[in-house]
Amino acid sequence: MKTIKKCLFPAAGYGTRFLPATKSMPKEMLPIMTKPLIQYGVEEALESGCDTMAIVTGRGKRAIEDHFDISYELEHQINGTAKEHYLTEIRQLIDNCTFTYTRQVEMKGLGHAILTGKSLIGDEPFAVILADDLCDSADESVLSQMVKVYEKYRCCVVAIEEVPKADTSKYGVISGHLVDGSIDTYRVENMVEKPDPKDAPSNLAIIGRYILTPDIFNIIEKTKPGIGGEIQITDALLEMAKQGKVIAYKFKGKRFDCGSVDGFVEAINHFYKK
Ligand code: G1P
Repeated sequence: MKTIKKCLFPAAGYGTRFLPATKSMPKEMLPIMTKPLIQYGVEEALESGCDTMAIVTGRGKRAIEDHFDISYELEHQINGTAKEHYLTEIRQLIDNCTFTYTRQVEMKGLGHAILTGKSLIGDEPFAVILADDLCDSADESVLSQMVKVYEKYRCCVVAIEEVPKADTSKYGVISGHLVDGSIDTYRVENMVEKPDPKDAPSNLAIIGRYILTPDIFNIIEKTKPGIGGEIQITDALLEMAKQGKVIAYKFKGKRFDCGSVDGFVEAINHFYKK
């Protein structure tokens, strides 16, 4: 029996750093080689045991729904030709996953986006993937590694990596104590969204992979807007951390910040070489 069956993808953001490319195209559809960013995320979720992809979209994001659907005209054209294999990977996803959608009507932060997905998740633990954090690892995907961590601790899990201290203001930053050095897990004691380096509790930054228990929804509902006037998942998770219910896991692998042009180019080079 799989413990984590649903993966939520917040995908309503504007992608302003990629304008004009993202003027009429969702940033999640920007391709790394021939695959859009969100497809990498869906593949990772499926590999980790999730079969339901709960996508929180917004205005101008219909291309995502069309991508994870059959295109009859295209199928008709390509069936039986030498080009058919180009569709193999996406067909596999469509055959093996259920895609559910809801729209975030107002952009009120990542916490609010996750709360918007509540109706798609229900009362069970779930994963969250931020598609613009593209992860690659030698053996197991980052989310698969996290599912194992969840199965051990049965509480919320955030993926972390060390970043230069000067960069803490780009991330949620945690502090905690090491609980198992052999697998790099920490019990989180404090977490701060986008702190100035001088206020950062450490240089351990959260990256876009979470496993959350459904009690997070009630907490988000009570969470006041934080930095940037937005409802932050980091602030909601701090409430759980105070009860000892958040584990941070230093994942094995490499993460590319595809929300920035530099990270995006780095990811393309990495996958091209592969
Ligand atoms: C979000 C989270 C932040 C996290 C980051 C990872 O920020 O709010 O805590 O460190 O994702 O990519 P965003 O990049 O959406 O501003």
